[in-house]
Amino acid sequence: MTEDVQTPEVTVEALGPGHAEPLQRFFAGLPEGDRTFIKEDVTDPETVRGWAEDGTARWVATSGDGQIDGYVAVRRLSGWSDHVAELRLVVGGRRRGAGLGRLLARHAVTEAISSGATKLVVEVVAEQGAALALFSGLGFRGEALLEDHIRDRSGQLRDLLVLAHRVDATWSAMDTLGLGEALDGVADPG
Ligand SMILES: CC(C)(COP(=O)(O)OP(=O)(O)OC[C@H]1O[C@@H](n2cnc3c(N)ncnc32)[C@H](O)[C@@H]1OP(=O)(O)O)[C@@H](O)C(=O)NCCC(=O)NCCS
Repeated sequence: MTEDVQTPEVTVEALGPGHAEPLQRFFAGLPEGDRTFIKEDVTDPETVRGWAEDGTARWVATSGDGQIDGYVAVRRLSGWSDHVAELRLVVGGRRRGAGLGRLLARHAVTEAISSGATKLVVEVVAEQGAALALFSGLGFRGEALLEDHIRDRSGQLRDLLVLAHRVDATWSAMDTLGLGEALDGVADPG
């Protein structure tokens, strides 16, 4: 879907070629510690430029000043896991704790469900309490703990937690999660 979702301060819009530069600035502005927890090498301009053109489901949250404050992606797995969608989410420091992460996560969940995915997963570095709390609040549950599974930029080993959510349960819990409200916003024909 390409419809925008607006709050008074931010607009969530599908990533397009015009976002390549502000998106690079957004990732460059994240503290090193946060970049560690993003799978791709977001410091590589070619990686980010490729995203703007590859047609994968990605959205950014933009402010009135043209800056990007958040990024979320929904990647469908392939082959025998093509019913599974993986979410990736990051919010910039100046907007944290104001509900933007939840807004983007709900948007991504809604889009993943609309695309037909029946299982949603998110990989969270075990120490990321904020991400764990956010996705737990949306009904995700720990499904696997992969010990020493990733290395941060300093080479230190970290545990990775795979959180998962079954879409059947999501639909039945729609009102509880407030996703119906999110769907209303996405379905706005304007
Ligand atoms: C996880 C992240 C996206 C949260 O973004 P955010 O905009 O600050 O989150 P929100 O303000 O929407 O908070 C939503 C919920 O998350 C939880 N949360 C957010 N920040 C938290 C913190 N510092 N400590 C504990 N819980 C926190 C709370 O449950 C919160 O709900 P509440 O406000 O009702 O208590 C952000 O911290 C981030 O980008 N982290 C680095 C990347 C990452 O770990 N991504 C997830 C894996 S892909």
